[in-house]
Amino acid sequence: MSFLASSSLGPFASAYPLSPTVLRHTLSEQPLLSFEALAKAALELPSQYVERRVSNAPNGGEFAMDQSDDADVATVIRSISTSGNWIMLRFVEQLPAYRDLLNGLMDQIGPAIFPSTGPGLTVRGFIFISSPGTLTPFHFDCEYNILFQIAGDKQFATYHSGQPWLPLDRHEAYYSGSDNMLPWKDAYEADANIHHLRPGDALFVPYASPHWVKAGAEPSISLSITWQSEWSQSVGAAMQINPLLRRYGLPAGDLPAWPRTPRWRSLGCRVARKVGLL
Ligand SMILES: [Fe+2]
Repeated sequence: MSFLASSSLGPFASAYPLSPTVLRHTLSEQPLLSFEALAKAALELPSQYVERRVSNAPNGGEFAMDQSDDADVATVIRSISTSGNWIMLRFVEQLPAYRDLLNGLMDQIGPAIFPSTGPGLTVRGFIFISSPGTLTPFHFDCEYNILFQIAGDKQFATYHSGQPWLPLDRHEAYYSGSDNMLPWKDAYEADANIHHLRPGDALFVPYASPHWVKAGAEPSISLSITWQSEWSQSVGAAMQINPLLRRYGLPAGDLPAWPRTPRWRSLGCRVARKVGLL
């Protein structure tokens, strides 16, 4: 079954992997992605893969977990129109029905990405259920992502994956275990490339492209499928080894522009991991 409009795949393949691109899809009627199905899925997932955060965090602020009461997550999802929350179901491929859905999506995405970055590696699925007006604060993700808007609408603001929006030290720190939130300046508001997503729209987000997301006036559901490539994995290795290289007075480097691969740093990182330096 085809979930992505075939007319979207050509422009996506041309823009991939550097430019955000809007695609069209038919997943909005998919029964696995209704509020009720997701309330049940949230109970089936191991609890460490379900996050409940506040809906009113500001850009540059903490995207805090909501521990204001001990309501179970299914109840929160069923009352998402008023609960003031952002719920994330992480690694939904753990549930067989969702794994099948993601595999079906990757079957269609794969031929579009293969010529540029090879096969999609480490494919993961995330589902976001948001109260009206939820802001997901400014952050970056170290993977390629297509976000499918299923219910409600969203403003999705993307930025180029470089300075000043993505400071090198934040990128490096992520690979040493820090979170993926980014410092914010009000001047960044004007730099945003804002995509208005409605049900039936999907957005490709390049590797490490900083972004913030604001849900509209209705409760929102979005599905993200993410993947890695050999290039993104080698960049991750370079970011991880950079601080070690500096410590030994060796040259570290910035985020290499695709398709340049940081071959030596990537190799060095693998060796450093093996001998326990990382
Ligand atoms: Fe994100």
